[in-house]
Amino acid sequence: MTKKILILPGDGIGPEIVAQAEKVLTYLINERGLNLDIDHGLLGGCAVDAAGVPLPDETLAKAKESAAVLLGAVGGPKWESIERALRPERGLLAIRSALGLFANLRPAVLFPQLAEASSLKAEYVSNLDIMIVRELTGGIYFGEPRGIRTLDDGQRQGYNTLVYSESEIERIARVAFDVAAKRQGRVCSVDKANVLEATELWREVVSDIARDYPDIELQHMYVDNAAMQLVRTPKQFDVLLTTNLFGDILSDLASMLTGSIGMLPSASLASDGTGMYEPIHGSAPDIAGQDVANPLATILSLSMLLRYSLAEVKLADQIEQAVSQVLSKGLRTKDIYSDGTSCIGTNEMGDAVVSALKVVCVA
Ligand code: IPM
Ligand code: MG
Repeated sequence: MTKKILILPGDGIGPEIVAQAEKVLTYLINERGLNLDIDHGLLGGCAVDAAGVPLPDETLAKAKESAAVLLGAVGGPKWESIERALRPERGLLAIRSALGLFANLRPAVLFPQLAEASSLKAEYVSNLDIMIVRELTGGIYFGEPRGIRTLDDGQRQGYNTLVYSESEIERIARVAFDVAAKRQGRVCSVDKANVLEATELWREVVSDIARDYPDIELQHMYVDNAAMQLVRTPKQFDVLLTTNLFGDILSDLASMLTGSIGMLPSASLASDGTGMYEPIHGSAPDIAGQDVANPLATILSLSMLLRYSLAEVKLADQIEQAVSQVLSKGLRTKDIYSDGTSCIGTNEMGDAVVSALKVVCVA
């Protein structure tokens, strides 16, 4: 049976950047014999507008039937003040949870051509290759109770709950150790064990699991120190293992080391192999519809989809090579532009990757 891929463009720049990844995918299907059916669905604000909820049943049903999901981004000012349960971001959290996508892999890799676009001096980031393993379906993002309540004195109080069970910590720790085994063999687990009990347990369980991986070197670091170390000597890290909230923050931070948040892809994986792939950046409503957004994080997310969900390792490598060649030609979207390079739009960048891919595939 032909495998299905579900595409969820989402909101803001989502449709524009996903369209570029779809050009790449269409080329692979039409010209390279990749056998896939593509379907589309609604998630986020566009789903609220069309169906009244951020994650329609139909979208979830399609996602469950698919081998993988490619997502753009969700959210925007239009939906910021609607009822909390209907906000676009809730749809994203709901689909992550419903598909059991607990393991979020966020590689922060510097393309050497972009060393000048990094917020750090080139010597600090040359050959940078960090893998952030973020827990994605637990922690303070999902803990109950949560809400905004009114206290006896009349003032409102917001509250959230940080919870991690041993099994949740164990399964994400095993992912990090397995990933590290295929890399430099080093895991740095990031927590706030000096203050938060939930992460005191995190540290304990990660240490216990490490005994099953004698070849992996494990280090623990408090999140405040980790943030500092990431901008001080980022190359000290191989795999960073962390919680949902800390991973959200540290992956944005790490993205700037690689030149732009517009460059970083991600894979969210379930234990049954289901995967959803999305750029780590948001829907950037301020630049939506202007043909200036960088589609490379989404195209690189497609590469991760081919690698992890379809075992099309060669095609995945070729997409990465094509992106690298486009950068070598000096083509840049606005976010990664520097003197001496050529600034192009979202569409042109998508076309440039397809053109480069044609050459890479033939070579
Ligand atoms: C991300 C995003 C999401 C998150 C938002 C849009 C809910 O920031 O994927 O990093 O916080 O997980
Ligand atoms: Mg984020």
